[in-house]
Amino acid sequence: MEKPEVDEPSQSASFEESEIEYVSYGGEHHLPLIMRLVDEELSEPYSIFTYRYFVYLWPQLSFLAFHRGRCVGTVVCKMGEHRNTFRGYIAMLVVIKPYRGRGIATELVSRSIRVMMESGCEEVTLEAEVTNKGALALYGRLGFVRAKRLFCYYLNGVDAFRLKLLFPRPELDISQMMMAHRDGRQEHSHDHLPQDQCCEDHHHH
Ligand SMILES: CC(C)(COP(=O)(O)OP(=O)(O)OC[C@H]1O[C@@H](n2cnc3c(N)ncnc32)[C@H](O)[C@@H]1OP(=O)(O)O)[C@@H](O)C(=O)NCCC(=O)NCCS
Repeated sequence: MEKPEVDEPSQSASFEESEIEYVSYGGEHHLPLIMRLVDEELSEPYSIFTYRYFVYLWPQLSFLAFHRGRCVGTVVCKMGEHRNTFRGYIAMLVVIKPYRGRGIATELVSRSIRVMMESGCEEVTLEAEVTNKGALALYGRLGFVRAKRLFCYYLNGVDAFRLKLLFPRPELDISQMMMAHRDGRQEHSHDHLPQDQCCEDHHHH
């Protein structure tokens, strides 16, 4: 697949993958590092309240990648009850250009997803611009599928795909299923709801 010029060797940093250190959000000193990366690399503008909302409430779901003391990548997420499902949501993912194509984003996202799974999430969702080949390929490799297309989702007018990763749930036994049935719960019911009820996640600025 065609890679953008940012992955040209001339612009790549030289490093061993073992030199990249991954840490979960550790406090206020990490906030400007996250903000700088996201502001530089994502099209969507976020206010400081949006960043704080995520990292204060779910510090264990945000990770930073460092190389020799320099922050080179970050992922910011949340999780919670959503229409009868407990689900994780990946809000922001960025790796700076010289460090791309070496698996750093995959490692960041995998760490967040692992914590989400351990916390009882049944699925993980996110939105990506339909034109963002790199992100779509990355999440596709991790098992995400395209759940729907959101028209004109971003402030720049671009459509988004909502991507979804469903976890296998072998632990769900028959008694739980019967209880769920009695509660009138319906698996995947959120897939068929009006769009405005599904799009709350991104618009906090
Ligand atoms: C998307 C992004 C986070 C990927 O970071 P990364 O560290 O380079 O990703 P990885 O090295 O973990 O990539 C893993 C796989 O994703 C796919 N991929 C990543 N970038 C790609 C690109 N530009 N073109 C095609 N496939 C790409 C490849 O399948 C890759 O595996 P491979 O290297 O074995 O081919 C990075 O390009 C970025 O920060 N982009 C700008 C911000 C952004 O778009 N964020 C996502 C918003 S939804």
